[in-house]
Amino acid sequence: MTGASRGIGAGLAEHFADRGMRLGLCARTVPSVPPVRLGSFGADAVVSAVDVRDADAVDAFGDEVVRRFGRIDLWVNNAGVLDPIGPLADADPAALARHLDTNVLGVVHGSATFARHVRSRAGTGSLVNLSSGAATSPRRGWAVYCASKAAVEMLTEVVGLEERDSGLLAYAVAPGVVDTDMQALIRATPAESFPDVERFRQLVDDEGFATSEWVARCILERCLDPGSRWEPESDRGSVRFRVPGPASPG
Ligand SMILES: NC(=O)c1ccc[n+]([C@@H]2O[C@H](COP(=O)([O-])OP(=O)(O)OC[C@H]3O[C@@H](n4cnc5c(N)ncnc54)[C@H](OP(=O)(O)O)[C@@H]3O)[C@@H](O)[C@H]2O)c1
Repeated sequence: MTGASRGIGAGLAEHFADRGMRLGLCARTVPSVPPVRLGSFGADAVVSAVDVRDADAVDAFGDEVVRRFGRIDLWVNNAGVLDPIGPLADADPAALARHLDTNVLGVVHGSATFARHVRSRAGTGSLVNLSSGAATSPRRGWAVYCASKAAVEMLTEVVGLEERDSGLLAYAVAPGVVDTDMQALIRATPAESFPDVERFRQLVDDEGFATSEWVARCILERCLDPGSRWEPESDRGSVRFRVPGPASPG
């Protein structure tokens, strides 16, 4: 899993650890899982500092996980950024490029690495790419974020079509609103840059957040467990869904 150092990724890692899963975790900051959660699988966690914008680094991380555990059954491209927030016309081109390199190319690299792995061995493999309601709901101030998540949904669909015969099952999952650093950044943004900010601030009073644990349960049930997972329709390459939960605008 990418982006496992904090936020949703760290929460997913903890829940997966509680399930006794063997984990490969990366982010630019080396992820850690609290030792109490690691008890169920001891040293069987690969943790690594990886910038998802670096295709070779993502590939090397995949190789390292396969060397340790033999195969990867679930790959989660969770790493993502929201900034720059504000009208596109005012954005710094370098910041836009950083965003797209992370949210689009980072997911491209992770998806390609995992697709090659699934081709190399028998059986299915679940690719989960974190999307957002922003992929389909335009919001002023989030032009590049909305665009990046729409791109994630389409690349998930296409890689799913391309790799269907090798056993890849592709999912684009919008997690709902989870109270992470990304949400704190949204709430701290002035309304001039993000006109919908008040709706997100209100979620704190309304206790309108989903938890990472809830998102993790949903991913395991709908994307991994053979008895319950959803599979793409015959003419589709992926399954897209939003994690059900408290009513939220995100
Ligand atoms: N929170 C929500 O309500 C919400 C709603 C819809 C969708 N999402 C999506 O869910 C995902 C996780 O969001 P979050 O709220 O947990 O965000 P977050 O708290 O800001 O955490 C982002 C994670 O991505 C990692 N990351 C960022 N840039 C990276 C890079 N270049 N290479 C490797 N890792 C990188 C960060 O670690 P380092 O800084 O250590 O690299 C961190 O672990 C994102 O894709 C986001 O768009 C979140």
